[in-house]
Amino acid sequence: MEEYRGICRAHTNIALIKYWGKRDDELILPMNSNLSLTLDRFYSETQVRFSKDIVEDCFQLDGEWQDNSEVEKISRFVDLFRQLAQVDLACEVISYNHVPTAAGLASSASAFAALAGACNQALRLDLDPLALSRLARRGSGSATRSIFGGFVEWEKGSGDHDSQAVPFDDANWDVGMVVLTLNTKKKAISSRRGMKHTVATSPFYQLWPQVSEEKLLEMKAAIKARDLDWMGEIAESHAMLMHATTLSANPAFTYLEAESLKAIEAVKGLRQQGYKAYFTMDAGPNVKILCPYSQSQAIIDALAPEFGADRLIASRPGPGIQYLEALPDHQ
Ligand code: DP6
Repeated sequence: MEEYRGICRAHTNIALIKYWGKRDDELILPMNSNLSLTLDRFYSETQVRFSKDIVEDCFQLDGEWQDNSEVEKISRFVDLFRQLAQVDLACEVISYNHVPTAAGLASSASAFAALAGACNQALRLDLDPLALSRLARRGSGSATRSIFGGFVEWEKGSGDHDSQAVPFDDANWDVGMVVLTLNTKKKAISSRRGMKHTVATSPFYQLWPQVSEEKLLEMKAAIKARDLDWMGEIAESHAMLMHATTLSANPAFTYLEAESLKAIEAVKGLRQQGYKAYFTMDAGPNVKILCPYSQSQAIIDALAPEFGADRLIASRPGPGIQYLEALPDHQ
């Protein structure tokens, strides 16, 4: 029986310099280079099987078979690999997200990076990590960065052939993140839709590419210096610049909720108590706190009375993709 199987784990990542806006929707080419930290605590594990016995593409996520629209996204992505391998077989994708539902984090980054790795292994394409990151990009922009561990830069590149992630720093030092979940509901405006609307209608957006490139350079210097205060200041400022572009879109919208603002104030309060704690926020209300990992438990303890200990999760930096022999047991 002709069957090809691949299994891969990929970790999620949180951007310190945000990707916000595409210059090509189809190829997912970003307006600006950006940079993230891969997190150890949150990941996807995905198995793909290509076989003559599989009648049509199917996709199971966390134990539930997914509907046509979800299968279609997967199929279109897997087609890129089928074309490369010149294989015409249908596939079955089984995936588990190890992102506690309470974390309310987007999983598209780890999901598409894990699927890219699984397809690479199954179809014996032997793609190097850079090529894999370019392909992961086609599923979701942030997936580009999840191929690698530590601090990762996604270079915007000049086209499909060089818009890819590169490892920047292994983050093998005292750094981490605390994720504060304020709302786990599916977001009303996806990042994809939100950034498109912003690019099209915010008069402030024209400032974004240039300012982002400058902040990225500064962030890279701050990481190299392992200067967490400097990194944090840039991360906070860049996150707010992103949220300012949505507030200036037409019609305006925002991902910030009342509780997000409270959390931001709480993070500033932590700094007054001597913690190195800095916030960032993505296309949702949850707040991620950059800090030395050694301070993460104390930060959780300090925030727990106001926000609830069950809504706070600490993570160390995480690794790049890992190929697996078998899909681990999941209950
Ligand atoms: C705010 O990667 O989810 O998290 O490429 O359309 O799938 P698509 O968008 P996605 O956008 C992430 C946006 C962000 C910032 C970031 O992760 O850099």
